[in-house]
Amino acid sequence: VPKNIDLKEEILRMKKEKNAVILAHYYVDGEIQDLADFVGDSLGLAQAAEQTQADMIVFCGVHFMGETAKILNPNKKVVIPDLNAGCSLADSAPAAEFAAFKAQYPDALVVSYINCSADIKAMTDIICTSSNALKVVESIPKDKQIIFAPDANLGRFVSKKLDRELILWDGACIVHIDISREKLAKLRAENPDALLIAHPECKEDILLAADYVGSTTGLLTFVEKSEHKKFIVATEAGILHKMKIANPDKVIIPAPANENNFCACSECPYMKMNTLEKLYNCMYYEMPEIHVPEETRIKALKAVKAMLEISK
Ligand code: 13P
Ligand code: SF4
Repeated sequence: VPKNIDLKEEILRMKKEKNAVILAHYYVDGEIQDLADFVGDSLGLAQAAEQTQADMIVFCGVHFMGETAKILNPNKKVVIPDLNAGCSLADSAPAAEFAAFKAQYPDALVVSYINCSADIKAMTDIICTSSNALKVVESIPKDKQIIFAPDANLGRFVSKKLDRELILWDGACIVHIDISREKLAKLRAENPDALLIAHPECKEDILLAADYVGSTTGLLTFVEKSEHKKFIVATEAGILHKMKIANPDKVIIPAPANENNFCACSECPYMKMNTLEKLYNCMYYEMPEIHVPEETRIKALKAVKAMLEISK
């Protein structure tokens, strides 16, 4: 990165010059969210990627999100600031092991959470996100067996809500399962007037205790619409940026993480790999670029499109 340049200004200038669109997830740093054309949850971002007219998609999130954008836009350039920005959920389902697991249930349909690799998407019948998982599973006839992968916590939540058995892959998000039960209980005791709201990637006991469970967009909407004034938010702390801007009169407290975490609150180390410098470089050099082999892409596209169709 050249010295003495205004990174934000340059990023905005290149965005125009290159007809690029910047898509960002709520978990990336606030200063990056502020530069983005669209900030959203995984569903909103997939929809934005499907609809964009830009020549280049710059995805400030994690690898599977860039892959989903590429699956939807094979003829556009898709770049991400750091190719190492992965996801523990996606990593928890290696393709070969998942193929063997799937082979044990030849009659089952596969519903996969969007937090998975393109290879897993290619083995999937229909993708879901945290905002439409209930709807997606409900769209499948009751007599059909369903494999749900890779997030077991979201899977259990859906299974309980719909009173329907699911065959679960045992994956988890390292950030959400690291929210400390004990510290959260203490925080709730200190703030009896606060509502607890949680992302469905959290462990079951937190979800059972929560006053509302939803995707990042769901959590934001809930706080905005609620008459309540105080909230404890059990998800990645990046969400607080927009939540605080939208609700200046409300008290918003992040749920605490265990001792040995990356920080006192819950931060995703992968999302936080997105920095202004890397964003500048990836727009300047138009790399690292996301590629998906065409055979995989075609299969994965079917599963992603099936979800987008249901979520219109
Ligand atoms: P949503 O974007 O669906 O809220 O999921 C959160 C997440 O963990 C993305 O990685
Ligand atoms: Fe993956 Fe969890 Fe980070 Fe989301 S918060 S990208 S699910 S590791």
